[in-house]
Amino acid sequence: MGLFDGHQAIITGGASGIGAATARALGTAGADVTVIDTDESGAEAVASDIGGAARVADVADASALTAAIDGAAADMGGLSILFNNAGFSSNVTPVHEWGVDEWHRVVAVNLFGVFHGTRAAVPHMLDRGDGRIVNMASISGTRPSGGESPYSASKAGVAALTVNTALDYGPTIRANAVSPGMIDTPLTAPLFEMFSDWADAVVARTPTGRVGEPSDIADVVVFLCSDAARFVNGQNIVIDGGLSLHGSGVDGISERMQALLNPAESS
Ligand SMILES: NC(=O)c1ccc[n+]([C@@H]2O[C@H](COP(=O)([O-])OP(=O)(O)OC[C@H]3O[C@@H](n4cnc5c(N)ncnc54)[C@H](O)[C@@H]3O)[C@@H](O)[C@H]2O)c1
Repeated sequence: MGLFDGHQAIITGGASGIGAATARALGTAGADVTVIDTDESGAEAVASDIGGAARVADVADASALTAAIDGAAADMGGLSILFNNAGFSSNVTPVHEWGVDEWHRVVAVNLFGVFHGTRAAVPHMLDRGDGRIVNMASISGTRPSGGESPYSASKAGVAALTVNTALDYGPTIRANAVSPGMIDTPLTAPLFEMFSDWADAVVARTPTGRVGEPSDIADVVVFLCSDAARFVNGQNIVIDGGLSLHGSGVDGISERMQALLNPAESS
C-alpha cells in the first residue's frame, strides 16, 4: 500500500527542480499524478517516469490553467492534492529599475498562478470531500533580499493567500505553504554560475552546512499532503537548513549584480 493510493495530484511547474522531485515522490507513493507546465517535453518526461500525465498551461493564464485542471481531474477521476509550485524570477535590480510589465509578469506567475490553481481545484476537492493544497512561497516572502521586489512581494502574497484558503475551506480542504531557502535547481543555477564563490557563502550562512536539494522540499510537501499532517493547516513551513536565521537566500546579490553591470560606478 502506498501513502497516496487512491489520491489524484496535480503539480504545477512539475517539469523541473522542486516540482519534478515532488511529482516523482507523490507518484512513487501511489498518487495518480498530472504535471502541468509550460515546458511540454520536460513535463512529459517526468510524467512518464511515474506513469502519470502531462498537460501544458501557463499558470498566469486563468482560462488555460482551469482547462488543464478540469481536464486532469476528469481523466484521473477526481482531484485531492494540488501543489501550486510554478514560479520564477527574471531579474535582480532595485525597485525603480524594474519595468512595469516585467514586475507584473513575476507577480502574475508566482501569485496569480496560485490563485488561478486554487480557484480551479477547489470545486473538485469540495465535490470529493477531501483536499490538500500546498503553495510555493519562499523565505524571500518573509525575509527579502535587495533587488528581488516582485519575487518577494509575490511570495509574501502566497503566504497570505494560503491562510485565506485554509480559513475559507476548512475542514474539507487543508492549505499550507512551503518557504524554501537556497535550493540547487535550474532556477538558481545562473547565480551559482555567475558568482562562483556564491555556494560557499550560502553554505557558510546555513547552520545545516549545505545548499538544499529539491528532495529536501519534496519530502516536506509529501508530509503536508499526507494524513500525518492532518492537523497542520494555514501554515508557512520554512525549509532552509537555518539559512534565514542569518539572512536570506540572495543577500548581497543585487549589489554584486550592479557591480558586474556598472563596473565604473562601483570602483
Ligand atoms: N530554487 C530555490 O532556491 C527556491 C527557493 C524558494 C522558492 N522557490 C520556488 O520554488 C518553485 C520551483 O522553483 P525551482 O527552483 O524548482 O525552479 P525550476 O526553474 O527548476 O522549475 C520551475 C518550473 O516551473 C515552470 N514554470 C515557470 N513558469 C511557469 C508558468 N508561468 N506556468 C507553468 N509553469 C511554469 C518551469 O517551466 C519549470 O518547469 C518556484 O515557485 C520558486 O519560486 C525556489
